[in-house]
Amino acid sequence: MATAGPGHLTPDRIREARKDVQRFLLHYEFGLREIGTKIEILRDEFLELHDYNPIEHVTSRVKSPESLLDKVARKGIGRDLDSIREAVTDIAGVRVTCSFTSDVYRLFNLLTQQDDIAVRSVKDYIANPKPNGYTSLHAVVEVPVFLSSGPVSVPVEVQFRTIAMDFWASLEHKIHYKYAGDVPERLTEELRSAADTAAALDSQMARLHREIHGDPAS
Ligand code: GTP
Ligand code: MG
Repeated sequence: MATAGPGHLTPDRIREARKDVQRFLLHYEFGLREIGTKIEILRDEFLELHDYNPIEHVTSRVKSPESLLDKVARKGIGRDLDSIREAVTDIAGVRVTCSFTSDVYRLFNLLTQQDDIAVRSVKDYIANPKPNGYTSLHAVVEVPVFLSSGPVSVPVEVQFRTIAMDFWASLEHKIHYKYAGDVPERLTEELRSAADTAAALDSQMARLHREIHGDPAS
């Protein structure tokens, strides 16, 4: 009987590979929890100090294995866990939806300035919106997670945006998905115009808010 060579899939190797993937993804789940706690602490302390909650809602997810494999194939990344760890920085993702644009930057600063957080990259699509109209502030941060074997540094993509930006992005995402990326020009133009409307709404709401309350953190 032929013995299984190094590349052969045996039930034991499949089981082992599945365990490796599970452990790999678990580290990202831990990273999410660390960032989630940091955001909650900032929110609760802000509420206590200023009697004002700058965060509307927070969502988080670990990328599903299917979507991770799609991305790996799409970007031509090596299929081993080390290459994936190195190249894919949005396996853990947190989305922080704020009331106002000023809160978006405030939360971003408060999180990224923490001593145990290392900032790997920042994309400010609020200052520089994407051509389709997408706006949000993205940061890939590394947070330490303390395991029994010692600390590991876990990258987490944090997206900060306002409710209006979130509204736009979720609709654009649905349209993009429905047309499999091939969105008719008329809709693309309407989306761009809706993005301008959303930005105008953010400015108007901020102005109103300042008029009524003043800046809560100043
Ligand atoms: P990937 O798109 O994840 O491969 O990485 P990237 O290097 O292009 O990063 P980028 O910061 O541009 O986008 C990362 C994430 O932001 C996406 O996964 C989406 O969640 C969100 N995003 C970026 N662009 C758009 C957009 O045009 N529309 C919507 N709805 N979401 C977007
Ligand atoms: Mg992208």
